Amino acid sequence: MMLLGTQRINEVGNLEIGGCDVTRLAAEFGTPLYVMDEALIRENCRRYRAAFESRYPKNIICYASKAFLTMAICPLIEEEGLYLDVASLGELYTALRAGFPRRRINLHGNNKSREELELAVSRGIGHIVVDNFLEIEMLEAVTREQTRQIAVLIRATPGVDPDTHKFISTGQADTKFGFNIQDGSALEAVRRTLAIPSLHFDGIHCHVGSQLLDTESHEGAVDAMVQLMQQIRRETGVACNVLNLGGGLGVRYRSEHRPPTFDEFAETITRRLTAALDAAGLPYPTLQQEPGRALIGEAGTTLYTVGAIKTVPILQEPGTRTYVSVDGGLSDNPRPQLYDAVYEVIVANRAGAPHDQTVTIAGKHCETDVLIWDAKAAPLQPGDILAVQTTGAYNYAMASNYNRFLRPAVVLVRDGQADLIVERESLTDIVRKDRVPARLRQRSARGASRSRS
Ligand code: LLP
Repeated sequence: MMLLGTQRINEVGNLEIGGCDVTRLAAEFGTPLYVMDEALIRENCRRYRAAFESRYPKNIICYASKAFLTMAICPLIEEEGLYLDVASLGELYTALRAGFPRRRINLHGNNKSREELELAVSRGIGHIVVDNFLEIEMLEAVTREQTRQIAVLIRATPGVDPDTHKFISTGQADTKFGFNIQDGSALEAVRRTLAIPSLHFDGIHCHVGSQLLDTESHEGAVDAMVQLMQQIRRETGVACNVLNLGGGLGVRYRSEHRPPTFDEFAETITRRLTAALDAAGLPYPTLQQEPGRALIGEAGTTLYTVGAIKTVPILQEPGTRTYVSVDGGLSDNPRPQLYDAVYEVIVANRAGAPHDQTVTIAGKHCETDVLIWDAKAAPLQPGDILAVQTTGAYNYAMASNYNRFLRPAVVLVRDGQADLIVERESLTDIVRKDRVPARLRQRSARGASRSRS
């Protein structure tokens, strides 16, 4: 069993997070429930920053808000001195509404809308990470209209192929993201940007992939990006102030996962970077990064209540499989279906008992939404509380209303205190945006009166 962050087993044998007995949280807030460990989020922010700052002082860490963003997370990230990467109008709006310092926001997207660019330019955010030529034209028009300037980074594809699920790898040449380096598009994008006075070219950006458990593709990206910096300098005479290497460092979903530690990661990246910069004779840029999962993934735990349990015959050993169904599934965690993601579970109300039974944890959606195949658990019965670990990143963020499920609440726990930071949706929320055209309303009224008579 792995215990993450402030997770511990308390005197009565229950799982505790942030000093809160999670069976109490389940009783108070209901399940499914996302529990976020504030101390671990803060510790991760500090340790990630410190790992880099101690080795390469010109450093900026932008939290990739796509992993998990709510209004309450913004002040927390701000207090930790991080910047924020947003990738949509909704994320940008959330950050601005929460009062996040606008100069510390970077905007991403491979197909930014006029509305997104207008909001970003009018609020004077830190950087727009430019993805394509159409965006350069749109930005020229928007900045001209608003008579404003904006700083931009040019997103390049370093051409490295990371060892991760193909849906979350982005740095290879064959991708919808960014400007290709090899065919000269990235350089051309820099040239066009430099020719537009209202755009301030500040540097280059890349992101190779996500949930990476080694540093190989990041190292390849460093080399490719330093080469691009050198080419830009040679061809245009301009030095890059910023080199942004994106995010991607992996986390532990299971006990056997061994992602590089922040220190190992920082050591490898900064060594490779300084060596490449020195060899190219380039001045040291500000190193920007955008970790999402590494900062928040292990800080999230999802609580479920066990319902129906059934054992069915199967052809392979051991001849049967036990399905334990919980009160959530695909709608609060689509990652097993999307990426074959794996997880571990703790039986929260018997956390101290040996987890030596093999069970398959299934959701309650109208399809085979298995959360964990062959999980190790303590003996289970209906009403038990299960804690699925490492659900802080891309779970709440990717939750849906499939089957008209209500999206769960989120609580932030710390020092024995639990604060609700996202309310559970209600049945009223489920029909709130529905509209019934008058002609159908009349018909159903007729139907209703007929059935009454
Ligand atoms: N920067 C950019 C430009 C990105 O596209 C991403 C993630 C990040 C930073 C943060 O990456 P991280 O440090 O979290 O790995 N929904 C998928 C993950 C998609 C990641 C997309 N981009 C999942 O559940 O695994």
